[in-house]
Amino acid sequence: EKGGYPDFMLKEISEQPRVVRDTLVGRMRGGELDIDELGLSYEELDIIDRVYVIACGTSFHAGLIVKNMIEGWARIPCEVEAASEFRYRDPIITPSTLVVAVSQSGETADTLAAIRDARIRGAKVFGITNVIGSPVAREADGVIYTKANKEIAVASTKSFIGQVVSLTLLALMLGQVKGKLTCGQVRMLFHELGDTAEQIQWIMDTQGAAIREAALACKDAQSALFVGRGVGSAICYEGALKLKEVSYLHAEAYAAGEMKHGPIALIEPGFPVIAVTTRSPVYDKTVSNLKECEARGAEIIAVATEGDEEIRAIADHVIYIPRVRDCFSPITATVPLQLLAREVALLRDCNVDQPRNLAKSVTVE
Ligand code: F6R
Repeated sequence: EKGGYPDFMLKEISEQPRVVRDTLVGRMRGGELDIDELGLSYEELDIIDRVYVIACGTSFHAGLIVKNMIEGWARIPCEVEAASEFRYRDPIITPSTLVVAVSQSGETADTLAAIRDARIRGAKVFGITNVIGSPVAREADGVIYTKANKEIAVASTKSFIGQVVSLTLLALMLGQVKGKLTCGQVRMLFHELGDTAEQIQWIMDTQGAAIREAALACKDAQSALFVGRGVGSAICYEGALKLKEVSYLHAEAYAAGEMKHGPIALIEPGFPVIAVTTRSPVYDKTVSNLKECEARGAEIIAVATEGDEEIRAIADHVIYIPRVRDCFSPITATVPLQLLAREVALLRDCNVDQPRNLAKSVTVE
């Protein structure tokens, strides 16, 4: 059932182009964005003035990635919080608050408890899940199903991509309903979102050797740092989590601008720094942070935009991703980090499908 792949993790990473396509199929009808399971009327969406995305683990990182899209396209504040924190504090919730629960399994205990509580407080609740009829789907006012199909490897990969794509659809919908995006803009963004399917395939087809070379540089490390700015820093959280989970190598993610406020003390010769340096308005700032790491002897692995030769001057290893609109770069840039985590794990003789101490579904607190 691994379909010829050596492990489920690689099989599931390889399915990601299909997940993008399937999650988008039928969502654009007659030039209009159409989410038939939305469960919330345009009027109900129009009054939304605050969004909380709540989730755990990898699903939480999907939320971090979409925060800027919701704020940028719908111009309403969006906070992203771990469900295990959200449920034990006293967040500001009114009937015009939308709480979006993101959960692959649809049965994570903290996420479920958080939406139950949010409903009692009067919020509208929306679910993004991979499992039809799961508790999150049943208890939400509306739902978008990610079309990842069953995920077997414990470390989540393809469902993460499905979650980011689904959350992007929700952000587009909010932008449209709020009148901040025109129909033409929604259509253009929707098509660019769909293009990420081929871009992921390009990474899978062309970057294997570069990723393996980078993995060798991490194999014997004690620790690794992931750095980036903007959406790049959100991708780093997911990259560091994946590496920790499957390779047991300690990894930490940091916003690049925060490096000099502490973590740079860790850098010594050979210390791996994995940097997301895709072309974006903050590219130069990230590169200047990296120069500081390079000067202290860090082994730099950069995930950069295809055609960027300049980055080779400071990076020891470069993995390329295709040029893409900044807001969609998380969908593509996460893929090499998933593959890197897997390669490092294999070099360290770890079971990539079933890491120790982890369960696929966390139904206890
Ligand atoms: C990481 C991973 C976990 C889950 C988390 C939430 O690879 O799989 O961090 O993302 O336990 O699970 P769901 O999405 O089912 O609520």
